[in-house]
Amino acid sequence: MVIAAYLLGSIPSSVWYGIGYLGIDVRKFGSKNAGATNTFRVLGKRAGTVVMLIDVLKGWTATMLAVLLYYFGLITDDQILTYQFIFGIVAIIGHIFPVYVNFKGGKGVATLLGMVLAIHPELALLCITIFILTLIASQYVSLSSILATLAFPVLLLLGVFGKPELSLVIFGFAMFLMVVFTHQKNIVRLLNGSENRVKLFVRKDK
Ligand code: G3P
Repeated sequence: MVIAAYLLGSIPSSVWYGIGYLGIDVRKFGSKNAGATNTFRVLGKRAGTVVMLIDVLKGWTATMLAVLLYYFGLITDDQILTYQFIFGIVAIIGHIFPVYVNFKGGKGVATLLGMVLAIHPELALLCITIFILTLIASQYVSLSSILATLAFPVLLLLGVFGKPELSLVIFGFAMFLMVVFTHQKNIVRLLNGSENRVKLFVRKDK
């Protein structure tokens, strides 16, 4: 199942959708990242939405493999979270280092979101809210991704959902470090003012 989670996370949706459906390789344009944001940027809203949903679904499905193990009586209920961590993280690693396309994938945010939706949906929705608010305020997807990921352990520590579960807090900070790692180039661009902005609410003049 660990291998299944990796192969699932590895599915390079942006590359396969772009090349297979539209004949365009997203890795050659925009930020050159094989992720949903760059798919929106290079291939448009429809392609971006499809890729984003697939990437979220990869993380969610891999994480839910743990529930399948529990359902078949292979693990006990107090082992579910541990296995969710394992399968979810392996899927994210697959997304970042996909076996199908020379181990050069995306930055892991959408797949992480899928994993968090499976583990703690209410917290995931709050993180999505922080992502959207940051995006509206800054127009930077990368900054929104980083702050939404940081919000995960911080909201838990603040006790928003009661007494915080230590393993989730540690996982949240580990994921934040991973997202900082995968966004190194974005952070440099944010600091020197050259990061791509998204144009939300563009008015179409007649
Ligand atoms: O999740 C990726 C996003 O935060 C940044 O993507 O293409 O602007 O580097 P990109």
